[in-house]
Amino acid sequence: MRFDIISVLPGLLESPFAHSILQRAQKKGLTEIVVHNLRDYSTSKHRNVDDYPYGGGSGMVMSVEPFARCIEKLKEEREYDEIIFMTPDGVTLNQSLANHLSDKKNIIILCGHYKGIDQRIRDIYVTREISIGDYVLSGGELPAAVLVDAIVRLVPGVLSDETSALSDSFQGELLDAPIYTRPADWKGYKVPAVLLSGNEAKIAEWRDEQALERTKERRPDLLK
Ligand code: ADE
Repeated sequence: MRFDIISVLPGLLESPFAHSILQRAQKKGLTEIVVHNLRDYSTSKHRNVDDYPYGGGSGMVMSVEPFARCIEKLKEEREYDEIIFMTPDGVTLNQSLANHLSDKKNIIILCGHYKGIDQRIRDIYVTREISIGDYVLSGGELPAAVLVDAIVRLVPGVLSDETSALSDSFQGELLDAPIYTRPADWKGYKVPAVLLSGNEAKIAEWRDEQALERTKERRPDLLK
């Protein structure tokens, strides 16, 4: 699976992909993540990528041309399943959308900045607009990193124990049950006895009950 991320601040995306699971996925050849500097596609002398908004108003708008040039170049090289724009007014990312996207082969992600991007990019190229939540960040880079992480960990072979992605909170309808590791007694705070019992059926039952309780308490909306 390949991601091409287009950004004015490519440096912001170096660290999130250079560690842990995302790094391993790339080393294993299971995913390729390429970040493109939007300024390399500017046609202006000063490598500008934005301009004043038509009709007035505050803030700058990211221009059509640099995005269009970068996208067209990428589309000449391979076919893309999706061109995604990260934006707070997009569809909110959830596990089912991440699952759906983890089946794709090639995805372009556009990161916006300033006031936003020229609507024509959205109309002409973008196939999907995704938000990571109801709050506004300074740009689309951190949302893009969140999206890529959520997708890549679902790609078969990326997690060493494939079932561990399947048992994540949200993968079923319920949140995860509480988990513990050694010591069994830390300063009088004890691990629930059932987990030390060795009785697999009882442990599974306890986990199901706990997951249901936690979901009722924290996310009753998931039970509807
Ligand atoms: N860009 C700025 N804020 C965002 C958000 N919440 N989700 C996706 N992209 C964004």
